[in-house]
Amino acid sequence: MALEKYIRNIIDFPKKGIVFKDITPLLGSSKATSECLQLLLQSLDHQKIDKVVGVESRGFFFATLLAQQLNAGFIPVRKPKKLPFDTISASYELEYGFDSLEIHTDAIQPGDKVLIHDDVLATGGTAKAVCELVEQLGGEIVQVNFLMELSFLNGREKIKEYPFFAAITY
Ligand code: PRP
Ligand code: MG
Repeated sequence: MALEKYIRNIIDFPKKGIVFKDITPLLGSSKATSECLQLLLQSLDHQKIDKVVGVESRGFFFATLLAQQLNAGFIPVRKPKKLPFDTISASYELEYGFDSLEIHTDAIQPGDKVLIHDDVLATGGTAKAVCELVEQLGGEIVQVNFLMELSFLNGREKIKEYPFFAAITY
């Protein structure tokens, strides 16, 4: 199945000049979702995973599915001030300014085998910040995976020390 068929291009969203990759057609198809999930799982080649870290908000969809299939716990990384318990945070650069992400301090135990998932790898700033959070808590990153990679933005350079997989590459 050509999964690309389920990714819709939205021109000038959220602002002029940006072509937004809309994953809702993929999520709306049980067949495409299950195929995509299988691709992500196969890339792990049966490696043991204790925790799947999903990135708010679009990373949550597949991260929870992956966690269930892998018999692993699901851990949310969220935007600032959303998580109720004690947190640590990591900041990353945006086009203009900075943003940050948070994780609960008890989300990962030292030595946990961690899979990080997000929907899109663009500049890599988000993924890099999530890797920092996981390592700060002592997690061992087994793989960082994505539904898609926008390879022309070179995000992979920022996370080159980690095993990587993307179901679709643009
Ligand atoms: C988008 C996307 C990735 C991130 C990729 O999320 O879902 O998480 O940007 O960009 P980067 O590689 O350049 O850091 P966004 O922050 O727009 O939030 P959302 O998932 O809540 O829509
Ligand atoms: Mg996101």
